[in-house]
Amino acid sequence: GSLASVYRVRCCCCGNPGSPPSALKQFLQPGTTGSAASAAQYGFRKEMAVLEQLQGHRNIVTSYGVFTIHFSPNVPSRCLLLELLGVSVSELLLYSSHQGCSMRMIQHCARDVLEALAFLHHEGLSHDLKPRNILWSAENECFKLIDFGLSFKEGNQDVKYIQTDRYRAPEAELQNCLAQAGLQSDTQCTSAVDLWSLGIILLEMVSGMKLKHTVRSQGWKANSSAIIDHIFASKAVVNAAIPAYHLRDC
Ligand SMILES: *[C@@H]1O[C@H](CO)[C@@H](O)[C@H](O)[C@H]1NC(C)=O
Repeated sequence: GSLASVYRVRCCCCGNPGSPPSALKQFLQPGTTGSAASAAQYGFRKEMAVLEQLQGHRNIVTSYGVFTIHFSPNVPSRCLLLELLGVSVSELLLYSSHQGCSMRMIQHCARDVLEALAFLHHEGLSHDLKPRNILWSAENECFKLIDFGLSFKEGNQDVKYIQTDRYRAPEAELQNCLAQAGLQSDTQCTSAVDLWSLGIILLEMVSGMKLKHTVRSQGWKANSSAIIDHIFASKAVVNAAIPAYHLRDC
């Protein structure tokens, strides 16, 4: 990412060479200075605080702790040590080679993400939901959410731009546009923005299509229902067993 790099690491000096590998998220690369450095610092503090608040939920990545690497006296590099997870939904979509994921997989993913969101929203937080932030845990046999650097608290939106392009809800789009123009929005986005993102993700999983261009098209803006109907209609032929009406409701 722009603020941090993630490495697969194994503890080699803790007296247990067989210890499982974990993920190390290192904020601030050596040599980074100025605004990039303060953005990385802010990102680190934010994610650390949010992770601390969310620990203990089955569908949220486990944090083992934080530490600092001193490359040189003036360049401390902050790190998060996290549970190492497996493939992301983004990769699953890639492997599915335009066939879409199995209904079993889609249901499993939907349930796990909804469990995580229910908890997150109860804590007053919203995520930056996208396929790259949903990872499979082979150990726990469930999907987990990662990357809380862009999450925000309702009523305290400290992030400049909300959500990631393509999975962004219309109200977040509007708010980002206003922010770009230097204007303040009257209404704040709520955690409902995450449900919009989940809807797009599930639609991508069903169709096996990247909807990047679709959600930017005029047709989508004019009538997204018609386009969603069309996607389901074309998929019904491929897998008639899919109870698509449930997903359409969603
Ligand atoms: C949008 O599409 C749906 C489904 O095809 C249709 O029922 C509805 O009338 C359309 N709405 C508009 C405003 O055209």
